[in-house]
Amino acid sequence: NTIYLKDYTAPSFLIEKTTLTFEIFPEYTLVRSHILFSQNPLRTDLPTQLDLFGVDLEIVSLSIDSIELSDKHYTWVDEVLCIKNVPTNFLFEAVTKIYPDKNTSLEGLYLSNGMYCTQCEAEGFRKITFYPDRPDVMSEFETRIEADLNDYPTLLSNGNLLDSGELENNRHFAVWQDPFKKPCYLFALVAGDLDVKEDVFTTVEGKKVELKIFVESHNMHKTEFAMQSLIRSMKWDEERFGRVYDLDLFMIVAVDHFNMGAMENKGLNIFNSALVLADEATTTDAGFERIESVIGHEYFHNWSGNRVTCRDWFQLSLKEGFTVFRDSEFTADLHDRAVKRIDDVKLLKTMQFAEDAGPMAHPIRPSSYVEINNFYTLTVYEKGAEVVRMLHTLLGETTFRKGSDLYFDRFDGQAVTTEDFVVCMQEVSGLNLDQFQRWYNQAGTPIVEVFEHFDQASGKYTLKFKQSCPPSINQPEKLAFHIPIKMALMNKADQTHLDLTAIDEFDMDTQVYHLTQDEQMITFENLTSKPVASLLRDFSAPVKLVFDRPKVEFAYLLANDDNSFNQFEAGQSLMQSHLLEQYSILAKGGEYQMDSDLIDAMQSVLAHDELSDAKKAAILTLPNFSYLSDQIDQVDVDVLLNLLKQCKTQIAKALEQQWLDNFNALNDSVEYAFVASQVGKRSFKALCLSYLSYLGQYSGLITSLYESASNMTDRSLALNLIANSNNKNQKQAINAGFYEKWKQDTQMVEQWLSIQSRGESTSIADIKALMQHESFDIKTPNKVRSVIGSFAMGNPLHFHAKDGSGYEFLADQILVLNELNPQIASRLCAALTHFKRYDENRKLKMIDQLHRIDQCKSLSKDVKEIVTRSLQTV
Ligand code: ARG
Ligand code: ZN
Repeated sequence: NTIYLKDYTAPSFLIEKTTLTFEIFPEYTLVRSHILFSQNPLRTDLPTQLDLFGVDLEIVSLSIDSIELSDKHYTWVDEVLCIKNVPTNFLFEAVTKIYPDKNTSLEGLYLSNGMYCTQCEAEGFRKITFYPDRPDVMSEFETRIEADLNDYPTLLSNGNLLDSGELENNRHFAVWQDPFKKPCYLFALVAGDLDVKEDVFTTVEGKKVELKIFVESHNMHKTEFAMQSLIRSMKWDEERFGRVYDLDLFMIVAVDHFNMGAMENKGLNIFNSALVLADEATTTDAGFERIESVIGHEYFHNWSGNRVTCRDWFQLSLKEGFTVFRDSEFTADLHDRAVKRIDDVKLLKTMQFAEDAGPMAHPIRPSSYVEINNFYTLTVYEKGAEVVRMLHTLLGETTFRKGSDLYFDRFDGQAVTTEDFVVCMQEVSGLNLDQFQRWYNQAGTPIVEVFEHFDQASGKYTLKFKQSCPPSINQPEKLAFHIPIKMALMNKADQTHLDLTAIDEFDMDTQVYHLTQDEQMITFENLTSKPVASLLRDFSAPVKLVFDRPKVEFAYLLANDDNSFNQFEAGQSLMQSHLLEQYSILAKGGEYQMDSDLIDAMQSVLAHDELSDAKKAAILTLPNFSYLSDQIDQVDVDVLLNLLKQCKTQIAKALEQQWLDNFNALNDSVEYAFVASQVGKRSFKALCLSYLSYLGQYSGLITSLYESASNMTDRSLALNLIANSNNKNQKQAINAGFYEKWKQDTQMVEQWLSIQSRGESTSIADIKALMQHESFDIKTPNKVRSVIGSFAMGNPLHFHAKDGSGYEFLADQILVLNELNPQIASRLCAALTHFKRYDENRKLKMIDQLHRIDQCKSLSKDVKEIVTRSLQTV
């Protein structure tokens, strides 16, 4: 059941208009569709067979041009309803019954806390009614909703409200019309009892847009930040991308049961409530930033995704990669650009690189899939954004903007491909981007090795670059990528940059060197001393840079690089090389020894007066467990965890007074605000206290921070550190107190569950106990992510228990969720797929669990695809 990109054919029939009626009753919902089809003029073969998708539907009636179809007139096999010999233009009507209250997959129409809502991307619309459920079939939609007036006073769909009124039996109706053609994955419907937060945005064109955020009434006090984020997004998109909103109304609805973060349905975005609801008491700095960026992300989709959409699901990165690029620029423009870049690259290097190295490796435009939901990945999103960022780097801001204007202008109202996007960038820049297109088709993380040579006598300095990319499934050999390497050569004597003009492959405007061959070399002449190369500035390409250079050069760059990102990277390289050295000593039974040069380097960062608090915090954070495990061949989990603990303890000891002084200085009582300067302070303060927590004698400081905290950032820092501690009684008392105080607040309970599940002292037995807690519900994805997800991804000590009990526990949960919610089940599999990384014992135990899952008779496509791919690589 594999779908291939190469098999794409244009749709047989197009749609002029779709009219839907939803009659919502307690036991079921009746859906009436009225669809005007016409043969696609592009199909010269004049097809006469209509194929519609439909899943979990009960047919009441089907008709063509008002003539009812009996079951002799159609077949319905494997999701496809097939009707032969249809005319060239015709009206198709269907009446189907669906059962939203039984829909635990959270795709199509379902119930969440008594509210009806939809999730149609990617292929959920087929769970609502029969339809050509593919993004290249676009239609105008008119939607009528009928429901009980008391239970569901709010009835929403895409576009503008055309009509509403009361009906018999205490029922009412609303009719919505969306004037913009759209694929059905952007359809949305909501029926519930909701309160609304309102505001108005006036566009640059002077149009007034009504803004509405719908939430359950007890959440009204948590809507202000989302509203302001939306207003900032609308303004930013006008200024930075020239994109103006097009409807008179923009709505957001918060729901508690949601598989993903949020969804960009036209004019009616639906959000996971955890990504909208916020206030100072319950939201951390990271939470505020995430909410603002997701509000931006979904809003930006109105152009990059909705006005210009995808031809097929292989093109997913066309909208997602571009929109992630847009939202990360939004955050960078609003807050701290350097810190945002550091955070994004960290995510990429820890999570996406791992995906690229594992059995699920795929290009940002995959060439095949079994279940498209499995391809909403870090690769498609985050690496996709990096590929767009490389285009931005190659073209520069002004030319890139011309390219994006051309793209929106040329393809408005169409469903297009990633080539269409790149071609626009090529046309406006005159650059040949043919080779660049390989980034869309080849999986894996390229490796760029760098060799340097300086000849004192002749004053010649050469840099040699060698690129390669390890094989991945179905792609044994890779062709060379077009890799933009942003660089500077620093002159140690006076810290100036050398002039690079002499080099052909170097672009003066963008400071970019174009690496396009397997091997390339540059020579610089007439130098009096060896320069220090600052390469891949701002992480200008998603590659692994391998440059075996003296540690003193990293220390030099850490102190002097004027590229913020590379300054951070230099620090990370120092820490990483220390950790990897010590790892091999510990693995052979030797003893850990701290490197005094590393401490000196950290000390000078602490004393550096030009570095912001946020930068200090980022630089002084050690590379994490997950990132390091990728750098080690078949990592021994115990050795690595033990190493990290010892190293942190030594750092804490060696710089104890500095951590303490900084903590005390930063721990002031200013009134909380979500602004970059304060966020930076709090992140540095968190780092100081985290180091101190390794010394044992600071538990009093931690509890007093917990008790005096006036905001969730501090409170959750303290709670995290308490969750690591072995003081069971104290921990229990604090956790119980927290729950008592906050149990009415869903977002607080989710955070509380997640912090406990990640705690170093939280065993599998404790996790099982949390799943018995009254607040846990396996049918709520946020709860599953908070407990099971946090445990599998964030609690390496217990998840990787030597006896395999962590893996067995996870497999048990995957098998339960497979029946309820395949998308969530499949997401959790990721933790078992990276078995290659681990020591033989753990590797075999993980594979055992994958086999156990594979034996399940009723395995969903979602889980099956992941498990099959993983076992293929054993
Ligand atoms: N388009 C949404 C976003 O990125 C994500 C929807 C994903 N849904 C899914 N079923 N995989 O904003
Ligand atoms: Zn998106």
